[in-house]
Amino acid sequence: MLYLIDDANIESIKTITQYFPIHGVTTNPSIIAANGENVYKKIKAIRDVIGPDLELHAQVLESTCDEIVKEAIRLRDAVGGNFFVKVPVTGEGLKSISVLKELGFNVTATAIFTAQQALLASTAGADYVAPYVNRIDNFSSDGIGVVGDIVNLFEMYGKDTKVLAASFKNTQQVYNVAMVGSHAATISCDLFEQLIYHPLTTSAIMEFEEKGAEYYTYEK
Ligand code: E4P
Repeated sequence: MLYLIDDANIESIKTITQYFPIHGVTTNPSIIAANGENVYKKIKAIRDVIGPDLELHAQVLESTCDEIVKEAIRLRDAVGGNFFVKVPVTGEGLKSISVLKELGFNVTATAIFTAQQALLASTAGADYVAPYVNRIDNFSSDGIGVVGDIVNLFEMYGKDTKVLAASFKNTQQVYNVAMVGSHAATISCDLFEQLIYHPLTTSAIMEFEEKGAEYYTYEK
């Protein structure tokens, strides 16, 4: 599974990319707002930190096809490198996905809550679809089940579109999307830290250090 960072905090992104095998960074308007900086400045700063090769997914705010396409061009020009434009799956969004693909954009269809939305976005040409796992769970539905259905549908219809599971609130959700075959997951920096934490790992390392120290001295 590919791991992406769903965050816009520069210091946290620096830390996480230093330790984890990261494939890219995703943002949305709420994440940008939470960090209190203009989107163009922020995505440039993220690009400076992650370099040109990692994927950077930035979302449009416009809602009509013409304006979505214009905004996508502005975002791509600002960020450069391996860029993906995120487009919510409205009617205008689906229309814009086809146009953006003709213009050579990488596209991530976002705000996905059903497998039907994902299949339509894929048919329109989306490279990724981003189902919102925790928000689906909070709607008294089954976020992991929706991710699994999308994976199965894409396989059944021979789609190249990847599933980029999003909106996580705990490590179990991240593990569960991996178990149903999600191609990728985008995760906040805080949650990344928790993915590898286990108290028994910490105590095992302490035990190794205590017992081994005397026998690991190096003499030329
Ligand atoms: C990422 O692409 C999504 O926009 C994001 O994961 C949504 O997460 P939230 O439900 O925590 O806002």
